[in-house]
Amino acid sequence: MNPVPKHIAIIMDGNGRWAKQHGLPREEGHRKGVETVEAIVEACQERGVKHLTLYAFSEENWNRPDGEVASLMKLLSFFLTAKCQKMLDNGIRFRTIGDIEKLPADVLEQIQAVKEKTSDGQKMELVLALSYGSHSELTRTINTLIAKGKPEVTVQDVEDHLDTRGMPNPDLLIRTSGEYRLSNFLLWQLAYSELYFTDVLWPEFSEAELDRAISDFQGRERRFGGVGEDD
Ligand code: FPP
Repeated sequence: MNPVPKHIAIIMDGNGRWAKQHGLPREEGHRKGVETVEAIVEACQERGVKHLTLYAFSEENWNRPDGEVASLMKLLSFFLTAKCQKMLDNGIRFRTIGDIEKLPADVLEQIQAVKEKTSDGQKMELVLALSYGSHSELTRTINTLIAKGKPEVTVQDVEDHLDTRGMPNPDLLIRTSGEYRLSNFLLWQLAYSELYFTDVLWPEFSEAELDRAISDFQGRERRFGGVGEDD
């Protein structure tokens, strides 16, 4: 049996559909989604997960109506304000991946402040993917390597310049809401991750659902391209 995944990455999908099912505006779905984020961060920490990466805002999400983008930014800002102390108390280090320079200046300032305040956290790393897209991340990485004058690059060079540098690749990827896509999320980093899809919508994803995903992961045989134990 595999141990508890060290790194879990989650595509939190289905907020809008949850809201629709309940006759509520989409914003309410996102608000409820933040409650799930809070519960799942805590649950992951209790289970000994060391890195949790959440796809909170994709590069493509900038194309949503202005009002929805604004309300997602407001929720992000609320989350950072409301949860900074809890992160400190629980030894959580806050980090982001993605092109965060595109975020509104006040939110960006808040992000930098929470990163600095929590930088000594040793128990778990919470990573929010914000204005994130894998193709852009890889392109930025390649451009950085070119700017450094590298005539040729190694796999390690790439790993060392991705937004995720220094952290292990995800062991387990979870996507909620019955969609079977990676949606430009961590394409390099997910090369050997176990993938878990559930029909549950993100606002309804619970600790019990997390445990289901973890035990499914624990029962998988990870071969990393090699041969299995019974072969
Ligand atoms: C997908 O639902 C979800 C998102 C656009 C991002 C997830 C955002 C949150 C949980 C809130 C912000 C997070 C933090 C940490 C402050 P969807 O709107 O695509 O759902 P749909 O496919 O049902 O329309």
